[in-house]
Amino acid sequence: QADLKSRLLEIQKKAAKYYYYQLRQPKGRVGYEYLKNRALTDETIQKFGLGYSGQQTKELYQYLKHEGYSDALLKESGLFSMDERSGVYDKFWNRVMFPIMDANHRVIGFGGRVMGDAKPKYLNSPETKIFDKSRNLYGLNFARSSRKGNLIICEGYMDVIALHQAGFSQAVASLGTALTAQQAILMKRYADEVLVTYDSDEAGTKAALRAIPILKEAGLTMRVINMKPYKDPDEFIKNMGQEAFQQRIDEAQSSFLFEVEVLERQYNLKDPAQKTAFFDETSKKLLGFSDEIERNNYIEAIAARYGIGYEALRRKVNQLGLTLG
Ligand code: GTP
Ligand code: MN
Ligand code: MN
Ligand code: MN
Ligand code: MN
Repeated sequence: QADLKSRLLEIQKKAAKYYYYQLRQPKGRVGYEYLKNRALTDETIQKFGLGYSGQQTKELYQYLKHEGYSDALLKESGLFSMDERSGVYDKFWNRVMFPIMDANHRVIGFGGRVMGDAKPKYLNSPETKIFDKSRNLYGLNFARSSRKGNLIICEGYMDVIALHQAGFSQAVASLGTALTAQQAILMKRYADEVLVTYDSDEAGTKAALRAIPILKEAGLTMRVINMKPYKDPDEFIKNMGQEAFQQRIDEAQSSFLFEVEVLERQYNLKDPAQKTAFFDETSKKLLGFSDEIERNNYIEAIAARYGIGYEALRRKVNQLGLTLG
């Protein structure tokens, strides 16, 4: 088993080197241009070991066969499609390649992006004996030594890379899946606070809401960074730059205020009945704070944000507490 894992790690490493080399070949020019067009520097491309996989071939397969790996082992690597009818092919083709590393800089899998609008946009390695998506975070191998005192969690490979390039070396991404408890526990080893910058679309908002209890359970405090009017950190930084992103970090709101803001979207606050219903719901959420001072602090913040009386809101919350026992 230990031997199997080390052989699989060898294969990923060789594949990463192969893709990296292809990016520098004449036929890899499209991949290189694509990454440059996305504003990545040569230094960044090198640091993240980005590569390119060309037209559909079995070149990688043949290379690794030549290196002496068996079909059975190559099948376990997740890098090839192998079926009896159509034969063996390199699974990733016509894509720029993102090697996924574990916290110790070992390549454990890949993400590959098409250089255009074709679907699927990203193709990722399947889970293998060395690649468990739920227990790894993209970028953690660099972020673990960033000494920023927090981690930034975002959605995508390009977000992590753009953030690191702009100096936010504490950025990581969950690997295209919902944040897991194991990933939260992993983050807690390196930081006490997590800044969430998921995409500002509906899917990203939902993902952020789902991440809140998971991060709390791991003992992390969290704040949510507002990226509007941009879709994700990559686009924000490209348009607004590093200082503007730092400002958004400084202004990031606590998860509770983010939850209330999302709740607010369901109500028309110009309508008195709906406004009342919104405060009913918010009061219930405020009751969730068992520490009275903390609760009062949030009551104060909510009252100020919505221009209502602090005392009135506090009485409402306390009354609700009595009613609900
Ligand atoms: P860019 O368009 O390159 O900026 O990508 P993005 O990271 O902004 O993409 P998006 O917000 O759509 O997705 C976030 C992350 O989800 C990606 O980095 C991938 O890890 C994953 N993902 C996106 N699209 C797909 C897909 O079609 N298939 C799979 N398996 N994962 C995807
Ligand atoms: Mn898993
Ligand atoms: Mn998205
Ligand atoms: Mn995105
Ligand atoms: Mn993007």
